[in-house]
Amino acid sequence: MAAPFYVTTPIYYINDVPHLGSAYTTIAADVLCRYHRLRGQECHFLTGTDEHGLKIQRVAAERGVAPQALADDVAATFKATWPQLGCAPDDFIRTSETRHKHGAQALWQQIEAAGDLYLGHYQGLYCVGCEAYYTEKELLPGGFCPLHKTKAEQVREESYFFRLSKYQNKLLEFYEKHPQFVQPTGRFNEVKRFVEGGLEDLSVSRTTFRWGVPVPGNDRHIMYVWFDALSNYMTALQAPVDRKRFWPASLHLVGKDILRFHAVYWPAFLMSAGYGDALPAQIFAHGFLTFGGQKMSKSLRNTIGPVELAKAVHPTLGVDVVRYCLMRSISFGHDGDFSMTDVVNRYTTDLGNALGNLLNRTLPFADVAPAYGPGTDLETELLLAYRQGAMGAAAAFDHHNPTRALEQVWSILAAANHYVDRAAPWVAKKESPPRLDVIVGHLLRILEGVSLMIAPVMPAVAASLRAQLGAPGLEGHVDRDQWPAEPPALHPGRKIPKGAPLFPRLDPEVAKQLIERFSPDPSAPTTPDDGATASTPIAPAAPASAGTPADGNVTFEDFSKLELRVGKVLSAMRVPAKDRLLQLSVDVGGPEPRTIISGIAEAYAPEALLQKLVLVLCNLPPRKFGKGLVSSGMLLAAGEGPTLSLLTPDRDAKPGDRVG
Ligand code: MSP
Repeated sequence: MAAPFYVTTPIYYINDVPHLGSAYTTIAADVLCRYHRLRGQECHFLTGTDEHGLKIQRVAAERGVAPQALADDVAATFKATWPQLGCAPDDFIRTSETRHKHGAQALWQQIEAAGDLYLGHYQGLYCVGCEAYYTEKELLPGGFCPLHKTKAEQVREESYFFRLSKYQNKLLEFYEKHPQFVQPTGRFNEVKRFVEGGLEDLSVSRTTFRWGVPVPGNDRHIMYVWFDALSNYMTALQAPVDRKRFWPASLHLVGKDILRFHAVYWPAFLMSAGYGDALPAQIFAHGFLTFGGQKMSKSLRNTIGPVELAKAVHPTLGVDVVRYCLMRSISFGHDGDFSMTDVVNRYTTDLGNALGNLLNRTLPFADVAPAYGPGTDLETELLLAYRQGAMGAAAAFDHHNPTRALEQVWSILAAANHYVDRAAPWVAKKESPPRLDVIVGHLLRILEGVSLMIAPVMPAVAASLRAQLGAPGLEGHVDRDQWPAEPPALHPGRKIPKGAPLFPRLDPEVAKQLIERFSPDPSAPTTPDDGATASTPIAPAAPASAGTPADGNVTFEDFSKLELRVGKVLSAMRVPAKDRLLQLSVDVGGPEPRTIISGIAEAYAPEALLQKLVLVLCNLPPRKFGKGLVSSGMLLAAGEGPTLSLLTPDRDAKPGDRVG
């Protein structure tokens, strides 16, 4: 019997509630887990929340709550969300739990006993958004984080260091021996290049804040949040029997932004702690779910609530439709855009016309499962297509490629619909009842087989389909591989209960409203401030911004996103037919002056503005004011109408100087 399949998701930061982008990873893990269960494999699916670290401590302080209270609140939301998305994790780990703290401390002690920790001083740059250390070279000019575009902070403090440098060659040897350790291969090559470039020892403790797991034997220090977080994959397996049964992990599923932590630091920690011969089998880095071309993330204000989306799409099967579209449309491993138009199209074509229609074309001819005699070339062809599709889908799932697996299943549906066209059951019904039995028998078997193959992605649709076919539920067969190359055998005489169409036609007006409701908001910021389009494939931690306090205040982090600069007015003129508007050319320190349209004509004559210093909000998206007039920025002013007063620096300042 195959070893158990132990799959993990990253544990999610609690400065944000789940959105469709973060749900993507959990849904993918759930799909793979359900597939392995269908193959009769014992499975263990772990997810959870990453609750410590400076970022969380700050968010909690901004919201005026204790970090533990914030953690309790958001962790509960995560825990409650997954079942609503059809995800059935076996365990949910929180890093503030005692089992985790003890486990992380035990791992620390194992590494200490190996002589791989030493006390020193860390001096350098740290991005709180990433919870990661940076070298100057890795930052943008001015010391800004390439992902968050916020300034990295200077840190100088006593710190424990992990001898990561000692593991450079051991890691490279391990990579060499395990060519599947990181997937996709292109990302593995980047990991290798990073390690070949040389590894420095890693600072793994902090002393300047308290929200973390205390370092055993020296509780002035808390563990670096990534040391703490990565260990969850082991600390969750507390009971020795679980550890024995499920470790090492079969698959750590991660977003491409956090690959370095999983493919470099984690195996090095494990090697040091004595698990060198029991390292995780594979780390799969998937791409980003984008929306309107930008990474879906809270700081771009372009997130979609997955549960809300599912409910809007279909009252009972919406979750499955969303899971299907995410797995089918976003080629797994690559970035892909979420589009509601695509969901509507796939609902109509893939689900309605291909799957639903095949069922609707079969059931009218079947009250009970028929016994049937030998078939013709048509049936041979159909069974061949099934065989190819079933084996292709299994191979794709085995390689963690749900997108290809679904394509294979839909090739079977296309073949089956083509078969109905040619076999013409409506003719057989009139002319040859035994021939009708052959056709209906084959179609029922194919549909039952397909219900099984779609079950990992669409468990509720699979269950409804099976109920309509009179096929037994899928539970209760956990120890048996249910994925043969041949469609399941029929039990003649079995009643076919039938039922309402699975995917009723979408009213075009409803479809239109859905598309409008779930399309990108054109007023959302288009400049990523969190690495939304970052292409650094093994770049550090995931973007996330501090949360907005519930009382309507903005956080300092929110404020610092405003690009306010001193500008100098180079020219000014009235806008024809617009009494209130002036068109200005303003030097804000960039290579070209900006055109700014401003509603200040009642208060200022154009000539009074020449050479005047003003304050400009520079990072608003360009705004159109009629034909050919686009404003790239906004002047700050007090009051309105004829008494409006422009804000201006009260002593010498240069165009381009940052305000704030
Ligand atoms: N807490 C760390 C992970 C520690 S694991 C030991 C973290 N958390 S996160 O909440 O910021 O991100 C969790 C996962 O969600 C990451 O794999 C990240 O890539 C993924 N995603 C967040 N937004 C996403 C998209 N828009 N698209 C795809 N995945 C996304 O990093």
